Amino acid sequence: MKNFIFAFILFALLLTANAAPFQLNKRATTTFGPCNTTDPVDLLNVDIGTDPPVSGKDETFYVSGEMTKLDIAPFTILMINYYDTEGNSFNASFRDFGKTIKAGIQFLKVITDPAPNLPDKYEIRVTVESCTDTANCGALHVFACASANFGG
Ligand SMILES: *[C@@H]1O[C@H](CO)[C@@H](O)[C@H](O)[C@H]1NC(C)=O
Ligand SMILES: *[C@@H]1O[C@H](CO)[C@@H](O)[C@H](O)[C@H]1NC(C)=O
Repeated sequence: MKNFIFAFILFALLLTANAAPFQLNKRATTTFGPCNTTDPVDLLNVDIGTDPPVSGKDETFYVSGEMTKLDIAPFTILMINYYDTEGNSFNASFRDFGKTIKAGIQFLKVITDPAPNLPDKYEIRVTVESCTDTANCGALHVFACASANFGG
């Protein structure tokens, strides 16, 4: 019995010793939250493949959500925008959905593009944008958004 308890304690110690460096290696994961806007936009769920992003390296954005007001149409776009601390966009990329997804239906869209040259501090904003009037598209409007700050 004594041996058993000893072995058990030894085993428990080994487990914690092994667990400690493992936890140190676990990277921090970025959480995307609501954008700083007063417009009534839907919130997107965003996960990124390389976290934090690395300059010039392919970055994958897994964007999911549900539009409450907008039916996603073939020309609705998913946009990735990088902003500096002054609020100026220094890189952007987008894809259209290429299909219709009704409001209230969950969607997942995956985009991979090289990350730009990244400054020390920046913001990434992911948006779903569309014309309000598809017959006469003057400008794109933001219907959903998520944002995360990096660095500093
Ligand atoms: C949010 O936006 C307002 C208006 O553009 C700006 O004054 C404010 O500094 C922003 N807040 C953050 C946390 O970026
Ligand atoms: C964004 O950065 C990537 C990687 O440097 C580059 O390939 C792309 O052309 C840039 N896009 C814009 C709009 O600046």
